[in-house]
Amino acid sequence: MLNSLSLSHASWIAAPSVGGPQCGVVAPCLRKAFDLSRPVQEATLSITALGLYECEINGRNISDFVLAPGWTNYDRRVHVQSFDVSQLLHVGENAMGAILGDGWYCGFLAWKSRQLYGDRPKFIAQLDLTYADGTTDRFVSDQSWKTAGSAILQNDLLAGEIYDARLEQPGWSSGGFDDSTWLPVMVIPAPDIALETSPAPPMRRIQELKPVSVQSKLTDGKWITQVDFGQNFSGRVRMTVSGATGQTLTLRHAEMLNPDGTIYVDNLRGIRATDFYTCREDGAATWEPVFTFHGFRYVEVSGLNKDQAFSLVGVVLHSDMEVTGSFSCSSPLLNKLQQNILWGQKSNFLDVPTDCPQRNERLGWTGDAQVFVRTAAFNMDIQGFFHKWVQDLRDAQKPNGGVPAVAPDRNFLGDLTDGGPAWSDATIICPWTIYLCYDDRKILADHYDSMRRYLDFLAAHRCKDFIRSHPDVDHWGGFGDWLALDGSGKTEGCTPRDLIGTAFYAYDAELMCKIAGILGHTGDALRYASLHEDVVRAFRHRFVTPEGLIASGTQTAYVLALRFNLIPEEARAVACRQLVRDIESRDFHLSTGFVGTPHLLDVLTERGRLDVAYRLLEQETFPSWLFPVKNGATTIWERWDGWTPEKGFQDKGMNSFNHYAYGAVGAWMYRTVAGLDLDPDLPGYKHIIFRPRPGGSLTSAEASLTTAHGKVAISWEQDAATFRCEITVPVGCRATFFPPYDNLSSLAFGPGNHPFSQPVKT
Ligand code: BGC
Repeated sequence: MLNSLSLSHASWIAAPSVGGPQCGVVAPCLRKAFDLSRPVQEATLSITALGLYECEINGRNISDFVLAPGWTNYDRRVHVQSFDVSQLLHVGENAMGAILGDGWYCGFLAWKSRQLYGDRPKFIAQLDLTYADGTTDRFVSDQSWKTAGSAILQNDLLAGEIYDARLEQPGWSSGGFDDSTWLPVMVIPAPDIALETSPAPPMRRIQELKPVSVQSKLTDGKWITQVDFGQNFSGRVRMTVSGATGQTLTLRHAEMLNPDGTIYVDNLRGIRATDFYTCREDGAATWEPVFTFHGFRYVEVSGLNKDQAFSLVGVVLHSDMEVTGSFSCSSPLLNKLQQNILWGQKSNFLDVPTDCPQRNERLGWTGDAQVFVRTAAFNMDIQGFFHKWVQDLRDAQKPNGGVPAVAPDRNFLGDLTDGGPAWSDATIICPWTIYLCYDDRKILADHYDSMRRYLDFLAAHRCKDFIRSHPDVDHWGGFGDWLALDGSGKTEGCTPRDLIGTAFYAYDAELMCKIAGILGHTGDALRYASLHEDVVRAFRHRFVTPEGLIASGTQTAYVLALRFNLIPEEARAVACRQLVRDIESRDFHLSTGFVGTPHLLDVLTERGRLDVAYRLLEQETFPSWLFPVKNGATTIWERWDGWTPEKGFQDKGMNSFNHYAYGAVGAWMYRTVAGLDLDPDLPGYKHIIFRPRPGGSLTSAEASLTTAHGKVAISWEQDAATFRCEITVPVGCRATFFPPYDNLSSLAFGPGNHPFSQPVKT
């Protein structure tokens, strides 16, 4: 992909056909033939769409990007792609052709209808040429392009694609094609939005999966074939079939199976998640939909005849981020948990960090991203991806400074001006985390004004006497400790919303004080330091007894108070004891939701209860991280009890089997089990903290991370007598190693591989 980008001479164009709020129309093809009289040396195509596009020049795809140009707040900006296409051109008649899909722009979005941004997809392209003789030329999208229908009769990102191969028009994107029956395109007034390159990597086909089982069964006189890929993922299938003209195959996607072995689709909340393919002629054909993706493990295929030649490949799609981290240890169950976390990340990082990839939702929920961002940065290089999403947050910010619950936003949550505690705070926590992991001041500088406005909004509209989500001024108060198990069945759990709100307000102020200092805004830094003091004081006054007991007594209340340092040092031991008492009373089970869970094990570790942290991590019965693993999960479930042997499936209204939020425990496994972390005072792993903390049943662990400086790694093993460890420090970095069995001394290391051993003390 090239950096130059220019669409200054091109016009926005579209097909005349338009769908409605409930139903789309055939995906339009747009084409333009053009003559090249002499050889081309350089050719740059700048291109984008409001909607999705697939573009070919002379019958060949211009790139391997999928679902381009991705999702932004389209009323503010759309991303432009630029490609070197010189190899696709030749002297003589050439042609460029684009098929447009509805995508996020005018397809179904979340639980809403279609056409939330516009009524039809729109397209713009500019081809800038330099001939071998040094002269230049240009071809642009304009009124001279022509349009016709395609074989894609209907397409929807969420619902699926309907494809009739009999309608294919061979040669449509090459020179010499007869387009005399095609219609003129419409030229659309240029939208008043920014056209710019994306800081995020493009989405691509990253991986292919082979089925682990294919079973056919005669049901009501029809053959139903069920394919299991053995892995829940986001993407679609590529199908090869030898069919008869007009034969239609139906492919339904699902994450789970019903007790009777049929696919379970109730949790998709009515979204079809089905593709249809009609065969063109007798003989083998290969097809993959292009303008949709599904979240699934199983595909049910109907319409096949007995023993008909047919095969499927699972095509995994996500933003093309480098896998930078690895974690493994002596527990196969924890290794599976780590794999499930990684798959959750893959499945939900398609241009926007989403809650889930399967049901009628798939939104950039701020809370979920905030919870998971640290873990995500261990697994993959997410720097560019989050630069893009933090821009989405800025674009979605309300005029009064409120940050919505989702970004990009299209008024999904109606009148809510902010997403509430632990959700909107993503606007501070995510850039801060990217700064720490990549030594990235730019993301802080880019976002500073937005963060400042957000904190001003909280002060003006959400707080009274420094209590955020104060019931006198905020009648909603946020999503609470979402899906916690201590709320008698209520999704928001039992931790008071003003407690969560005030805890996060204090944390925001603390981070903003640091951020202002880093960026040299000294006055602001002082202001936020004093705000932090005021909020902590208010928190103590309202929620903490002098002995260290905390209102509501939930695990999450204790976790937040301890993690964000909201209670006096002398009361922390009592608070931790209360937390442990609650965990013990549940026979070493957690009860936390989205808000408390990411910090639970850190708090126990910091307060000297590593033993309890390991018991929770290795707990195999419900509720725990390993309960889904023991029950066959291949991704992280949205709910601790998404499925139980006693009750079967949880409420179909909200039961995703591919939600990364509880996967936030991954950061603890890297940082504490393996012992690989950064130093917040010297971010970006310039100074590496190695602090392995063996515990539980583990006898070994290892983690590695590719950083800007090179590979950082640690591996340890121990038997009853000896702990052995080796660390790797890249050139230009230094490390501090904390031996697990002697808390008082630490060792300094420079670049290189360093072995270390010490006796095990019990
Ligand atoms: C989403 C969550 C999200 C929540 C808000 C749900 O529908 O799936 O992950 O954070 O709403 O509480």
